Amino acid sequence: MSTVLKREINKRRTFAIISHPDAGKTTITEKLLLYGGAIQTAGAVKSKKTDRAARSDFMEMEQQRGISVSTAVMSFEYGGFAMNLLDTPGHNDFSEDTYRTLTAVDSVMMVIDSTKGVETQTRKLLDVCKIKKTPVITLMNKLDLEGMEPLDLIDNLEKELGVECVPMNWPIGKGREFKGVYDLRSGEVQFYLSHRQDRKNDVAVIDLYSDDAEMLVGEHEIAKLREEIDMVKALTPELDMARFNRGEITPVYFGSALNNFGVQTVLDAFSTIAPPPGPREAVSRVVEPNEEKFTGFVFKIQANMDRNHRDRMAFIRICSGVFNRGMTLRHVRTGKDSIVRNALTFLARNRNLVETAYPGDIIGIPNHGTIRIGDTFSEGEDVRITGVPSFAPELFRRARLRDPMKAKALGKGLAEVCEEGAAQLFRPLSGSDYIIGALGELQFQVIASRLMNEYRVDATFEGIPRNVCRWVIADDETKQEIIKRYERDLFFDGSQNLCILSDNLFRCNQIADKFPKAKLSKIMEIQ
Ligand code: G4P
Repeated sequence: MSTVLKREINKRRTFAIISHPDAGKTTITEKLLLYGGAIQTAGAVKSKKTDRAARSDFMEMEQQRGISVSTAVMSFEYGGFAMNLLDTPGHNDFSEDTYRTLTAVDSVMMVIDSTKGVETQTRKLLDVCKIKKTPVITLMNKLDLEGMEPLDLIDNLEKELGVECVPMNWPIGKGREFKGVYDLRSGEVQFYLSHRQDRKNDVAVIDLYSDDAEMLVGEHEIAKLREEIDMVKALTPELDMARFNRGEITPVYFGSALNNFGVQTVLDAFSTIAPPPGPREAVSRVVEPNEEKFTGFVFKIQANMDRNHRDRMAFIRICSGVFNRGMTLRHVRTGKDSIVRNALTFLARNRNLVETAYPGDIIGIPNHGTIRIGDTFSEGEDVRITGVPSFAPELFRRARLRDPMKAKALGKGLAEVCEEGAAQLFRPLSGSDYIIGALGELQFQVIASRLMNEYRVDATFEGIPRNVCRWVIADDETKQEIIKRYERDLFFDGSQNLCILSDNLFRCNQIADKFPKAKLSKIMEIQ
């Protein structure tokens, strides 16, 4: 293995941030960029208020997605490490996109609002990390507000998420009295000397048992703090790296993203304890990052990068080898080899042509709809990386045309928009309806607006009495038997996979009971 490749792999950290809306993901993202030197002052990226407006207005949101597309990944250097922070959409309705982004990372930062504890969206996202055994580093945020007691927060996290916590530092005071953190490993106290929100704070590192500590914390408080620290130390186990790497335990840091307290500490954790890019499962074998030949898979497609050309960006996570501009890559699904000269990389908020990229890096390939989510690219090998899931939608609508002459354009528009992965297209085995399945209501509005703007198709979506979707995983013979018997409940998804759309789970279970050889699945691996 080339030593350059080995070195480059070891210095890469590819991660995403998960949280419930409003816990502080946007704030911490910006602060990471600030501490990573990618931006000079914080507060410029976006105001929360404009974001709110966009959330309630999907057209604006689409525009926002268009202009802020480079936030799909933000790369920056930190302490000699190449950090790739993958953004996950904050809105619940885009959760499928979020889930898939989690397949492209090696670790995750979980942000918890310390005034609220664990919330629903965090729970759902952490479940995905658990399935994937992704290492998770936790930031208890908003310590500058009067929140729950630190011990109660740890308890809440362990009970609600079923993950063991290992505190790495301990807050000194909370709310208005939040003064710093005690590092439970080094025994040092970090005091926040300045209180800037837009720039890095000055931090004094001192000994907990020194006079300086007594002066800064206060005579009474220091005694209480020393006692508390003794207790926490006695209760805190060592960080077992093997268990952390399997996602069984999470190191916990306390801080306040808004006030830049603890940002550097948690960023340091990503360089010191988060893992570099690891192996990836493929259909026939395991792909190791240090293999000389390139492999990568598409985890996200974003359209409308340039409205005039109707182009899309396919985001590829590199799994092995080196990407060099001008190299020939095989698009494994189609078997087509082509020279890639226009791949992009994303440095902070700028896009640049990528010359060289390594495992863990994300490159964007502009295309006109030939590339799909889950596709693998290789240097000639017919290898298919697995593990990019499609989740069963929960809402279903039938597309209705106002002008019946536009049926062909409707089919094309729906197929293309759904290939981006935010919603799924289903066709019944009997009949010619187009059924769209999504995880959130907002998707239907977005699709209707895109059909109108990009395909000149005026379509509406009406409810249908179906709300359960299960893919049928079975051999061809069993599938034929199921089709014979339950044709009216059966549909093909956009990749011609057979699935049941039903109005109740009971019916699905009935089919499962009748055909024990078939597996009915809520998750389909895109291949
Ligand atoms: P999100 O992306 O997870 O949805 O959360 P975001 O960062 O937008 O933060 C949600 C709100 O919480 C924002 O306030 C933000 O300023 C605030 N916040 C984030 N981190 C901290 C922290 O450490 N301490 C305190 N006190 N607040 C924090 P907002 O009022 O909704 O928006 P804005 O008007 O302040 O921008």
